Amino acid sequence: MKTIFSGIQPSGTLTLGNYLGAMKQFVTLQYEYNCYFCIVDEHAITVPQDRLKLRENIRSLAALYLASGIDPNQATLFIQSEVSAHTQLGWIMQTQSYIGELERMTQFKDKSDGKEAVSAALLTYPPLMASDILLYNTDVVPVGNDQKQHLEITRDLAQRFNRKFNDIFTIPEIKISKVGARIMSLQEPTKKMSKSDLNQKSTIFILDEPKQIEKKVKSAVTDSEGVVRFDPVNKPGISNLLTILASCSNQTIKQLEASYTNVNYGQFKQDVANAVIAELEPVQQRYNEIINSNELDEILDQGAEKASLVANKKLAKAKKAMGLGRVKKR
Ligand code: TYM
Repeated sequence: MKTIFSGIQPSGTLTLGNYLGAMKQFVTLQYEYNCYFCIVDEHAITVPQDRLKLRENIRSLAALYLASGIDPNQATLFIQSEVSAHTQLGWIMQTQSYIGELERMTQFKDKSDGKEAVSAALLTYPPLMASDILLYNTDVVPVGNDQKQHLEITRDLAQRFNRKFNDIFTIPEIKISKVGARIMSLQEPTKKMSKSDLNQKSTIFILDEPKQIEKKVKSAVTDSEGVVRFDPVNKPGISNLLTILASCSNQTIKQLEASYTNVNYGQFKQDVANAVIAELEPVQQRYNEIINSNELDEILDQGAEKASLVANKKLAKAKKAMGLGRVKKR
């Protein structure tokens, strides 16, 4: 059975983008692959975080993974900072990374743009992400479109290490879903929907109330053509809503275009809102049941234990290949 690894940062409430681009596909994949799903809290601290808020977000993300349908009997769910091999291999991968290639990463450029104090960890974020993936002999990494560059550098680092030392790492493939890999902002549909958007109307959060969702969808920016048609260049707003509706209703964009000829934007938006609410309501219900349960701690303990076993073995191989530590005389 092939192995999957993917991670989500606990850096705020998750968005519909995170859900449709990543989480939703994890749920189907868990039955076909040996899956590791991670709460990457060490990535979250590459930018300043409030200590108590971070704790809350970590727990909340764990509950959301389960609420969205991740089954702990199928997949290993764990917190990155509870498996110390991640930062240890992260350091090793830093030794194989060039400052120039890290400075060229779009995420680094975006997140450091205009800031006076930028942490060194923001620059070395990709080698830590590579270590997440490479520790588990990962074959496939399901992510949204924005993580493409990080996957490319992961593959480069793995190949570089294998060439220089020994054939230790599996070279992972990226898996991007056909629909939903890039959900856009509702207010500026040429920008991706993001947790940190200052305009609250731009982003649907997984835990938004139905009324809020309806309001946000209804105020989404569209165009004046009045035709529901998929054309991301000329009609980014309507195309984004079509993508959202397709992802939430499991219909293709083509099918939707056909059923919305002669339907006005008002009705179309209402249907989009209803589909998003119907998709998220069961997740929200399960979330509320799970968030305060003891079961959550047990699942995370077991996850960390299981992940550590696999990760420590790979870490030991990488250390040995590089000549770290010693070979005992007896
Ligand atoms: P993060 O936490 O920003 O996002 C988690 C997942 O959600 C996807 N995503 C989106 N998909 C569609 N439309 C959007 N608007 C949208 N916004 C976010 C992301 O592509 C991602 O799949 N660096 C990663 C976390 C990470 C990781 C890993 C991922 C750390 N280590 C190892 C995979 C494997 C990140 O910041 O994702």
